[in-house]
Amino acid sequence: MADFQASVIDGMGSTPKRLACKFFYDDVGLELFGKICETEEYYVTRTETALLRDIGPDLARLAGSECTVIELGAGSDLKIRLLLDALDRPAQYVPIDISHGPLQDGARAVARDYPALRVGAVCADFTAPMLLPDDAVTITRGGRLGFFPGSTIGNFSPDEAQAFLRGLHPLLGTGGALLIGVDLKKDPDRLDAAYNDADGYTAAFNLNILKRAAQELDVDIDPDQFEHYAFYNQAESRIEMHLRSLQQQSLRVGDRTFDLAQGELIHTESSYKYSLDGFTGVAEAAGYTALRHWTDAEKLFSIHYLTVAA
Ligand code: AVI
Repeated sequence: MADFQASVIDGMGSTPKRLACKFFYDDVGLELFGKICETEEYYVTRTETALLRDIGPDLARLAGSECTVIELGAGSDLKIRLLLDALDRPAQYVPIDISHGPLQDGARAVARDYPALRVGAVCADFTAPMLLPDDAVTITRGGRLGFFPGSTIGNFSPDEAQAFLRGLHPLLGTGGALLIGVDLKKDPDRLDAAYNDADGYTAAFNLNILKRAAQELDVDIDPDQFEHYAFYNQAESRIEMHLRSLQQQSLRVGDRTFDLAQGELIHTESSYKYSLDGFTGVAEAAGYTALRHWTDAEKLFSIHYLTVAA
């Protein structure tokens, strides 16, 4: 929790104020995110899942047989199963996630249903450059395939995305590949709706970061004194999520006090949207060859198959 408290102090002392989106995902946040993914407005999850189903035969050809699948973030059970089902006799599955519970649960369920697969979960922050521990992976005939769905890459700025992708090279190794989901630029109204769903799940998800801080940290914050505010910033090609202060107020975090004006915003998340060329440019600048990409018929979402450039 020291990490969360330090991040809140740092973010509240910044101009403009901000909170890091990685702290959205406690148990309540994960449940709310699951609800968002099922809303009519949030096209992201359904579109990527349908696309994964469609491109299975292509993926089997590209990845070859007996590959090692390394999932960055133990995310959706359905997506990893679609990938494993599509591939030709995948040899190993290595999910990497910072949250121990969801990581173990997901890995156990996959190990139970895919008895021929060697499963070795790694509890680590995959955003920091890392190598796989020897006991998590054995040498196999096939190559390594990183899997990073959901357009989580959109929660990094393009510069951060480039640095992050480059940092994966040691993990993927020479000849390794990365299968990555990337949300695309589109009609701003559609984007605004996706982050302002009528049932209010996105608002609850955004506000939950304050509820979490109020419960877990030494802070005095009343989440009811804030409202969800999300919009598409066309100049930056990103959805911005903020929490807007409903009144002038002071927040205490540990022994620090921060003043907020009525209407002042706390920036909680950016979700960048790319053109196909724009993302290919980021991938190439990060040292990958953009071998192939696929999109749905409406060009809402894309999946890219990148290989580590020699
Ligand atoms: C996890 N990430 C890709 C989601 C997104 O769309 O940026 C998080 C999210 N925030 C609000 N709705 C969904």
